[in-house]
Amino acid sequence: MNNPEFVQIDDLKFRVLLSEERIQERVIELAREISKDYQGKVPIFVGVLNGAILLLADLIRHLSIDSEIDFIKISSYGDARISSGEITMIKDFSADLKDHDVIVVEDIVDSGLSIQYLKRRILNMKPASLKFVSLLVKTDMAKVDLTIDYVGFSIENKFVIGYGLDYKQQKRNLKSIYQLVDEG
Ligand code: IMP
Ligand code: MG
Repeated sequence: MNNPEFVQIDDLKFRVLLSEERIQERVIELAREISKDYQGKVPIFVGVLNGAILLLADLIRHLSIDSEIDFIKISSYGDARISSGEITMIKDFSADLKDHDVIVVEDIVDSGLSIQYLKRRILNMKPASLKFVSLLVKTDMAKVDLTIDYVGFSIENKFVIGYGLDYKQQKRNLKSIYQLVDEG
């Protein structure tokens, strides 16, 4: 298993922030909590493509309850490191979420605008319930007023890659999460 401490891409240098072990331990805890909260129910996990696929895949394998999965793809970032603030729908849900217990799975909440958009859209479909899980939440997420029900880790507001998170669509496959090192 190869988990380097530093990763370089273009002229950017990243240092490990959350190790594979810490991530996996936390995912197990989240899965336990969710299994307890949804006892006797079969929630549908809606992964937000592309970033959430690793978390979703790991999370559902640690559940002790039955589940369904679906995906939605939206874009707010383009290929830049700054959120554009504008949400575009790329792939809509396939499942009918009406009367289902829906749990949206995100990799990271930054401005919160993506989650806010999804919340509005899903509530329109009249689910039985709606909750959000995100592996990461950036601490100064303050543009919108919303609650993330299950948070993996709160991190400072710096760009991160790995475990689903990309830089120009790359580095999603890293098993640990890496944070951009400030230069200068
Ligand atoms: P928000 O709408 O600003 O909350 O942005 C959320 C989306 O932006 C996430 O689902 C990620 O796809 C992307 N994003 C936000 N911060 C980062 C980061 O540090 N690295 C990689 N992608 C990020
Ligand atoms: Mg995302």
